[in-house]
Order: sequence, then structure tokens, then C-alpha cells
Amino acid sequence: MQPSTPQQIHLADYRPPAYLVDHVHLTFRLAPKGTRVISRIRFRANPAGTGGDLVLDGEGLRLIGAAIDGVALGAGDYLITQAGLRVAAARLPGDAFTWEAEVAIDPEGNTALEGLYLSKGMFCTQCEAEGFRKITFYPDRPDVMAPFDVRIESDLPVLLSNGNPVGQGAGWAEWHDPWPKPAYLFALVAGDLVAHADSFTTMEGRAVALNIWVRPGDEGKCAYAMDALKRSMAWDETAYGRAYDLNIFNIVAVDDFNMGAMENKGLNIFNSKFVLASPETATDRDYEFIESIVAHEYFHNWTGNRVTCRDWFQLCLKEGLTVFRDQQFSADARSAPVQRISDVLQLRARQFREDAGPLAHNVRPEAYAEINNFYTATVYEKGAEVIGMLHRLVGAQAYRAALDLYFARHDGQACTIEDWLAVFSEVTGRDLSQFKLWYTQAGTPRLSAAWSMAEGQMHLTLRQEVPATPGQPHKSPMLIPVALGLLDQTGAEILPETLVVLDQAEVVIPFDLAALAAEAGRPLPEAVIPSLLRGFSAPVILDAPVSRADRLVLLAHDTDPFNRWEAGRSLMRETLLGMLLGGAADQALFAAMGRLLADDSLDPAFRALVLALPSEDEFAQAAQEAGIVPDPVIIHATRRDLQVAMGVALGPVLTQLYDALDPGPSYRPDAAQAAQRALRNAALHLLTLSEGPTRAQAHYDAANNMTDEIAAFTALLDIGDSDVAGRFHDRWKDDRLVMDKWFMAQISHAAPGGAVALARRLSAHPLFDWTNPNRFRAVIGGLTAGNPAGFHDPSGAGYGFVADWLIRLDARNPQTAARMSSAFETWRRYDADRQAMILAALDRIAAQPGLSRDLAEMVGRMRAA
Ligand code: PHE
Ligand code: ZN
Repeated sequence: MQPSTPQQIHLADYRPPAYLVDHVHLTFRLAPKGTRVISRIRFRANPAGTGGDLVLDGEGLRLIGAAIDGVALGAGDYLITQAGLRVAAARLPGDAFTWEAEVAIDPEGNTALEGLYLSKGMFCTQCEAEGFRKITFYPDRPDVMAPFDVRIESDLPVLLSNGNPVGQGAGWAEWHDPWPKPAYLFALVAGDLVAHADSFTTMEGRAVALNIWVRPGDEGKCAYAMDALKRSMAWDETAYGRAYDLNIFNIVAVDDFNMGAMENKGLNIFNSKFVLASPETATDRDYEFIESIVAHEYFHNWTGNRVTCRDWFQLCLKEGLTVFRDQQFSADARSAPVQRISDVLQLRARQFREDAGPLAHNVRPEAYAEINNFYTATVYEKGAEVIGMLHRLVGAQAYRAALDLYFARHDGQACTIEDWLAVFSEVTGRDLSQFKLWYTQAGTPRLSAAWSMAEGQMHLTLRQEVPATPGQPHKSPMLIPVALGLLDQTGAEILPETLVVLDQAEVVIPFDLAALAAEAGRPLPEAVIPSLLRGFSAPVILDAPVSRADRLVLLAHDTDPFNRWEAGRSLMRETLLGMLLGGAADQALFAAMGRLLADDSLDPAFRALVLALPSEDEFAQAAQEAGIVPDPVIIHATRRDLQVAMGVALGPVLTQLYDALDPGPSYRPDAAQAAQRALRNAALHLLTLSEGPTRAQAHYDAANNMTDEIAAFTALLDIGDSDVAGRFHDRWKDDRLVMDKWFMAQISHAAPGGAVALARRLSAHPLFDWTNPNRFRAVIGGLTAGNPAGFHDPSGAGYGFVADWLIRLDARNPQTAARMSSAFETWRRYDADRQAMILAALDRIAAQPGLSRDLAEMVGRMRAA
């Protein structure tokens, strides 16, 4: 049976709302099974709309009663469907009226974690993108903005909503949010919670109460998130001139959450994994995530909340910009080059992969069936890259002026990408119509470079090609900013960083080398080494014929730290590809890396990144691009061979780093200490693979923090240690977040041949609560993302196992099931047998009766390509 393709919504069909909302009043009478929501909403015909029927969204609501201007509606006065409620224009008293309704909802039965639901006895909400319609009847679209008043009635001790508190008593609390907002930013929390409290004074002199609300027992794990929050508030004032705008800012940590966190106005709700941290239970990486996610959600207060999106096609308007802002913040708070390299690693691992497959879509999509499927790496990470390019093209000053204009002009509005680009055009006088293709053309552009030299002149040719993607067979040339420098053969820079813009299929750029060399005080070089795409100035795949020898020079000498790292990375990728074809590991590369590792003038975090190998997925992607059909099992083995070879070749320097970098007994999560641990643990890992378990066992026993403990744990798992998992379990079985790591690490670091069996065994473990998204992701994602060779086991067992779990989860939580299904998006990379088995798994999912719109759309898109 062919499942029906879910219906699509198109950007081109956007129409302004028929009615606007001037005010919302909500009363919640909370009860796990039968919560009552009483709404009083003042509507007014939209002068820019077409008038007509009152159409409200609503899903899974039991209507108790409704009235308009105080007159109760009879059964014949409205029509209720699966999607909502309609009152005919003829029944409406005029252009402005008050709608009142009482509905009953079932938070306990809400397993999708969208709308109002229960997590460990705590009521909480998740309304983005379209969850508010599961709470009450409302025009649930972001271009309808209104101030909200909320009254919560419940015996639970802590009752929170958006805005400022205006009153509370036994069993009730009232909140007022003066800032008009779309319904997706509504939030309510009620529970037995304790606060880690602090305060902040804004640059305008307003005192803001800050609280991080957690379950009793967790209050000792909030200090870092609070510190990150205060630093974010100060940073947004300095970097963007944006101050906070309420008397109180609340964050709540919940254990059951589909995503990372949510920027509800004045009441951010977080996956507890991105709030709670102590040295014993959280890794340096966890701390880093907490810092950047707290910042991200806080920054949404201006980019997302005060200025929001007109419709969900414009999602990148808030997400791309807010990711860019949190990346800037982290670059300021930590090391800018290390931040840039990490951001690019993420982009390539997730977004390039997406862009190269059947799920490729525009940064601003033009059609969707389920908007939840478009909270993607393309919208977020590529969306941030697009803003980074704009920043680079116009410069920091004009960028700031454009943002000032954006906030001044659009405060309180729901906007589009056109509005966004218009402020840049106005401030800079630039025509951005070609630049806009970054929002409307999918696919990662290929940039190729070639150069020739004659008589002291160099001609650099840059070419671009944008590959076809689903629905977009032909592309126009994009505007690609290429930051570059030139080095002579000794590694001396003769052209400092310069920005050139590729705005056609091909451009040729002349360089007067004689003049450049003279200016740099260097002899005229016989050959030059171009350092292209410095700082990764555009999200493209660069193909430049820089010889291995020249890349070794770049690795040793480039003034651009990103390209230094990139040179090493590309050498490592090429070495892996060579080994895949039977070649040997490259001793010259090892020698160069050894010199770099021993250079104590370099940030240890940077050195750790240079030492890190491409992931198996990146390696498979590279193999495919080189025309080799990747076999994940061989990819894994080859990568392991290279790790062992590096451990042997670099043994002395790794040992020396290991001994020298011990940060001592007092743990601090700051960038400096984390950098030392990162390099030390990277050394530990390679040494364990080449030398055996002794050092890692000692490291495990001595660890006084989770970063070291998990480093030793995974190194030991990698060499097949059979008892460390038991020890870890016994120590941590009562800590949920740490046990997520336990599940994930074991599966990710299992020998590929045994990974599916282990995942199966762990999915029967008493602590495997598949209804908790973090735990589900730990086990299923531990296989699909953590152990590609296991997932792609030649028997097909991995595909079957994952399909079974997706089907099971879909009935309960479609959003998370659909998100995890992208594990299959790379199917075209593999051999015919694997392709056939993946397609069979996808077809089996597609044939499930009652499949969600979310998962149906994902499978349909993956299957279609
Ligand atoms: N808007 C959230 C963020 O980026 C992400 C999110 C989307 C959370 C949908 C929940 C549901 O910060
Ligand atoms: Zn966001």
C-alpha cells in the first residue's frame, strides 16, 4: 500500500491573518488528566486582511463552552474539525469582539511533548512551532502577536508563566507579559521546583531577578548556567546594544524535552542536559554547550521574540541570526579560532551531509508538510553562515548599523528575509539580490581554484558550480566571499588577508607578485602558495590543487589559524583515502604534526583539533566525493589503523604532552583548563590504542571529573575492555544524565560487528526508558551517529533495529522519531546491497498504518530522491 503523501504548505500561499489579537487572557486549572483552559481573547479585523470567518487552530481539545461578546454559542454556531474551529462571518458581531472559550485537555496523555504535558510530575509547555493549538483555540501563527495575561490555579508550589508576576496566593499565581508575542512563545510551568537565584542590573539600570528552576536536589548544578546567563546579558548590551526588557528572567530545566531548549518570553525551558552541570557529572563539552545554549536562548529575546517571524518559512530569520550571535559570543568568551574550527566541523558533519542528500532544502524552505521537520542544520547552521558572510562583506560597523536599523524599524513585528536584507541594502547601498540566492538555492557550492604565474604576475582563477538538489535542477552563480592570502615557499606571507568576491561562474584575479613581494620585504618567489577561503569565509567545498608539500607549509606557517588546521585536516583526509586504496600512512604528515603538537606557543585546544581525525562519516563523505563507494566497516578499520599508526609515530610527543598537561586537582570548566584536558585526553586516546590499557586504567581511577572519566572510559571501550562498563554503571546508575553517556558511549565505541547486538541488549536494560528523548537518542543515536560501521552492518540488522524503534516511537512522539530518521539520509552513498536494505526499511516504515505526518514526510523525501 502506498501511503498518502502528506499535504504541503507553500510559502507562495502566504496570506495575512483575517483577524488580529489585541489581548489574551488565559486561566489554567491544572490537573494531570483534565486541565481546564479558559480563554478570553479580544479580536479585531485585520485592516490588511480580507475579513471573513473566524478560523481558529485547535487540536485534541474538548470544547466545554464558547461565547462571543458574552453570548454563548450553540452547537450550530461553529464548526469543529480535526484542525480547529470556524465561526461563520455572519455569526460575528462586527469587526471587533471578544471570544471566550473553555476547553479540557489531557497533559498526562500528551506523549508527543508538544503543548501542555507532564514531565516527572511537573507541568510544562512546548509551543514552538505549532503546540499552542493543543492548549486552546487560537490563530496559532507567528504573525499574530498579542500581550498575554495568565492565571494559573494549582496546588503545586511553583507556578510560572511569561512576563512579570503580578500576584499570587494559595493555589494561584498571575502573570502579565506586556510585550506582544506570538503564541509559540507562550509558556507555563508548574511543579515542585527550587530556584538557584541571582540578579542582573541592565545598562538602563533596571534590576532583573534571575532564577534557574530545577527539581529539588539539582540546585547545586546550576551555577555555571547562571554565570553563562549573566555573561550573555552583558554581552548583548555591549555587542548589540540590546538590554533585557522584563523584571524577571526564568529558566526551567525539564527532563523530557524534544529539543535542546526553548526561548519562551521571560521563561526559557531547557532540556535539563543543557542546564545541570557539576565537574563530576558534566564534561567540558557539556559546559561549552550549556554556555552556548543559554546564550542562544537569551539572545532570542531580541532576535526572535521582540522581532519575530512572519511565517515558519522565515525560521532562519531568527535561528540563523541567533546561532550567529551565539557563535560570536562563544568566540569572545573562549578562543575565536577554536570556535570557528568547531563551528565548521559541525557545519560539515551535519549540514553538508544534509545538503548532499535527499533532504537538501533552502535556508528558507518554500514548502513543508510538517514544520517540525525543518529545524535543521541547514536552517540553523547554514543560516548562521549566511549571516557571517554578510558580516564579512559589509564589515563590522555597517553590520551593527544594519542591526540597529533592524531593531528600530521592526520591533514588535513579524518579519521576512526581505525585511532583513532591506536594512542591509539601505545601510550599505548594496544590491543584495544575488546574495539572496543563499536563501533560495539549496546545495553546497563547489569552489575550484587554479593559478598560473609568469613574469612576476599571478592569475588566480576561481570557479563555482552549485549542484542540483531535489526540486532544483539548475542553479545560478552565487555571490561567494573568498578571503585569501598568499605565502611564498618558505611560508612567509606576501599578501595579507584580502577579500575577493566571486559573483560569476568564473573570475580571474591578477596579482602583481613583484610588487607584493617588495612590499613584504621578500624576494620575488618562484612559486606561491595560496591560502584560500581563510576563516572558511563561505560554506562551500573548496577544490584547490595545493600540493602536499605546500599544504605542509600552510600547516606550519599560515597566519590564518583556520587554514592551518584545514591544511592538516585535508592531508589527514587524503592519507585516509590513500590507505583505503592500499597506501601507507604518511610519515611526513606525522613529523609535521609532531612539531606542531610540541609547539607550546599554540593553544592546546587548537592542537587537539589538529590531532583529531576526520569522523567516519566525514571520511565516508570524502570517499564518495573521490568516486569510491564507501564500505563503513572498512572505513572504520582504516581510520583505526591510522589512529594506531599516529599513536606509534607520535608516541614520544604524546607521552610528553600527557605528562605535562595535567591541570591538577581543582577543576575549572573554563576554556584554558578545558583546552589542556582536550589535548591531554586526545593524547591518551591514541596512546591507549597503540600501547594498551595501563595508562587509561590509571587515568580512569584517578579521574576527579567527568571529562577525564569519560575519556578513559571510551578509550578502554575502544580496545575492548570488558569490565569498565560495569564499574561505570555501578558508580552512576542513579544519575540520569550520566547514564545517558553510559548508554551512548558503549554503543558508539563497540566493535562494529557487535554494535547492533549490544544496542539490542541495552534497549532491554531496565534503565532504557525509551519514552525519554535523551535516553532514546543515547541508544538509537549511539548506533546511527556514534557507530556508523555498526549501523551499516552488512547483514542489515542495524537498519531493521532502527526502523523498529522509529515505528514504535512514532506512535508516541512523532517529532523525535522523524528527527532521528535522518540517519537514513545518506543511503545513496552505499553499495547496492545496503541501498536495497535501507530502502526496504524505509518502505516498511512508510507502510505503517497511522504513521505521523512528521515521519511520513521524512521517509517520503528520502525515498523520492
Ligand atoms: N527555538 C528553539 C531554539 O532554537 C528550538 C526549538 C524548536 C525548541 C522547536 C523546541 C521546539 O532555540
Ligand atoms: Zn534558536
